[in-house]
Amino acid sequence: MSHEKIEKNVALMGILIAVVISFGGLAQILPLMHQAEMIEPLPGVKPYPALELAGRDVYIREGCYNCHSKMVRTLRFETARYGHYSLAGESVYDRPFQWGSKRTGPDLARIGGRYSDEWHRVHLIDPRSVLPNSNMPAYPWLEHAMVDGEQVARRMRALQRLGDPYTDEEIANAAAAVEGKTELDALVAFLQGLGKHAPRE
Ligand code: HEC
Repeated sequence: MSHEKIEKNVALMGILIAVVISFGGLAQILPLMHQAEMIEPLPGVKPYPALELAGRDVYIREGCYNCHSKMVRTLRFETARYGHYSLAGESVYDRPFQWGSKRTGPDLARIGGRYSDEWHRVHLIDPRSVLPNSNMPAYPWLEHAMVDGEQVARRMRALQRLGDPYTDEEIANAAAAVEGKTELDALVAFLQGLGKHAPRE
């Protein structure tokens, strides 16, 4: 009996088990790899403009993601608080994505346009001046640090190589677009852009 042969040969059985399991693995992994290529940006979602891209770098450097997620889950109490749940097509140009799960502070995926630029500036420089009980750190130095235009242009060039549809013109104009802007300006621009193209409830 051929089955008996397999059962009595550990090496053969091991190999065949590995083959069978790898089929199961492939059945799960292959469709996902295919899907990742297929995710289309939502209408209006474009690679970050120079200033917002610089702000995103500040967001990552300062570790804002340690306390803030940027993903609204598909749960009623989440959508009631924040707005439409997050969709993959919103984050196609986020490298690396900042969805996160740690929420010491509120989710920021839908923060764009909720407050004025001035509110964000005051809040980032000194959160306690807006909310006396806030335990968010203050970021007063952002107001005095200038954005490096050359670096932003290089960053855009790198993203273009990875396939983000930046035009050469956008990259050439990047330094001018962030000329004279502080890191605080950039971070506020980034925050105000979050959720701009999310579907409305
Ligand atoms: C130690 C945790 C912590 C870190 C780090 C942190 N925050 Fe916060 N953040 C909070 C908490 C708590 C709140 C809620 C209280 C408040 O608004 O100050 C908050 C609120 C906010 C809000 C208002 C959200 C709303 O819906 O009202 C924004 C915007 C924000 N943070 C942005 C940032 C940015 C940008 C950074 C990085 C530069 C950052 N936070 C870093 C904890 C944090």
